[in-house]
Amino acid sequence: MKIYVPRDSAAKAVGADDVAAAIRAEADKRGADVTVIRNGSRGMLWLEPLVEIEDDAGRRAYGPVSVADVPALLDGKLEGLGAVEDMPFFARQTRLTFARCGLIDPLDLDAYEAHGGLSGLRRAIAMTGAEIVEEVTKSGLRGRGGAGFPTGIKWNTVLGAKADQKYIVCNADEGDSGTFADRMIMEGDPFTLIEGMAIAGLGVGATKGYVYLRSEYPDAIEVMNEAVRIGRARGLLGADVLGSGRAFDMEIRVGAGAYVCGEETSLLNSLEGKRGIVRAKPPLPALEGFLGKPTVVNNVISLATVPVIFEKGAEHYANFGLGRSKGTMPIQIAGNVKFGGLFETAFGMPLGELVNDIAGGTATGRPVKAVQVGGPLGAYMPLSKFDTPFAYEEFDGQGGLIGHAGVVIFDDSADMLQMARFAMEFCAVESCGKCTPCRIGAVRGVETIDRIGRGDAGAVEILTDLCETMKDGSLCALGGFTPFPVMSALTHFPDDFATTKEAAE
Ligand SMILES: Cc1cc2nc3c(=O)[nH]c(=O)nc-3n(C[C@H](O)[C@H](O)[C@H](O)COP(=O)(O)O)c2cc1C
Ligand code: SF4
Repeated sequence: MKIYVPRDSAAKAVGADDVAAAIRAEADKRGADVTVIRNGSRGMLWLEPLVEIEDDAGRRAYGPVSVADVPALLDGKLEGLGAVEDMPFFARQTRLTFARCGLIDPLDLDAYEAHGGLSGLRRAIAMTGAEIVEEVTKSGLRGRGGAGFPTGIKWNTVLGAKADQKYIVCNADEGDSGTFADRMIMEGDPFTLIEGMAIAGLGVGATKGYVYLRSEYPDAIEVMNEAVRIGRARGLLGADVLGSGRAFDMEIRVGAGAYVCGEETSLLNSLEGKRGIVRAKPPLPALEGFLGKPTVVNNVISLATVPVIFEKGAEHYANFGLGRSKGTMPIQIAGNVKFGGLFETAFGMPLGELVNDIAGGTATGRPVKAVQVGGPLGAYMPLSKFDTPFAYEEFDGQGGLIGHAGVVIFDDSADMLQMARFAMEFCAVESCGKCTPCRIGAVRGVETIDRIGRGDAGAVEILTDLCETMKDGSLCALGGFTPFPVMSALTHFPDDFATTKEAAE
């Protein structure tokens, strides 16, 4: 019998290591033939540690499992959840990027291959660089890190650049509040990212890659380093990638913890050992990036989606989604929510269905008030916008942002004036200081919101004006997008700004 206990850090945070040790000890005590496999997470975080037992009868889930449950688990007396694939939260997903996550031991390259891994890379090896880039373009894949820029166009720019050295840089800084997809795939299926980076390297002619990984993810750092070591030992990385005669190797680099180091030019400075400050564009990183050389900078999920595009074909991937939002998005559901976790689905599901139906509403049981989509720079979406399909253009049309697809849910006890203040405060703390609208504007923004909170009605106009200046005059999206959470809170929840004002009048 095989017993799967996740090694994902979300599962470890609620005792998965202790449960795994208890299963091992109890099985040994009984002389039972049990193999404990540490897999990735299946993404249903309210059920962690989610343990699965596999025997002749198939694979069944139990959760959340505590150490005290272990004897009953081995006796077959613990109430189970059935097969993960039949559970509603899982069954309603379309898992392409996360197809293997939680299914296998993340560091078992043979299991990776047995579940479709490396077939994408093998297909890419038989193609020219231009054909590889064309396949990504045809898939319609857009950057999953925030901006939604077409990945094929970016790769094509790097392919066309003439240089003695090119680089693939994976952005694993994942600073957005409420997001964890990058971490989950790095901890749960690291070879997918490595394979995606290798395909990117073959495509644009880059022989070296870096993963810029945030220091707050020690488990992901450990798993990625080990996966790279195994990849090298097994010929997936190195001078002769899978016998192709072409080279690609990569390293993991750990950041020092700054939100702005997720911005691609700031990231490149940090990777070069410099202060993480935003660079003016042009030049684009695709032409002058890491060490001044042509560089693909892509998010973890963008790169980790590349293998399935090559495994199943660009058309297969592009058949999912809505309009120009092709394929699937691993949506991360967090905040005050009943069923939080990772939900990968084709673009197009209405926001309300996601929040009320899939996520089951709030954990407190109180009415949902607002949902912040797209991290700290994303707008607060009110109930009146819950019909909006989860897709780039559709959200944009409603003043919203998909970003890295973090969905953070708030109940009716949330004070939206305080949330607007938090957005400005976050910007003030995280600003790299290069441009005035952000460096000074965010500080003035906090002060102005405090004035509104004290009942100064005239400060609303000043805040609106300040937000316009930050939006139009900031060098990067940290200062440029902070107005979205602030103005959406002000526009959609005027009562939270007006009550205090009226009280003072
Ligand atoms: C302040 C700021 C923070 C960002 N943080 C991240 C991040 O943590 N991860 C990420 O992939 N992209 C982040 N981005 C977006 C990157 O600048 C860039 O668009 C992205 O890495 C490109 O990859 P993609 O095309 O695959 O999305 C951030 C942007 C800004 C302005
Ligand atoms: S907007 Fe803020 S973070 Fe971006 S360059 Fe200007 S000061 Fe730096």
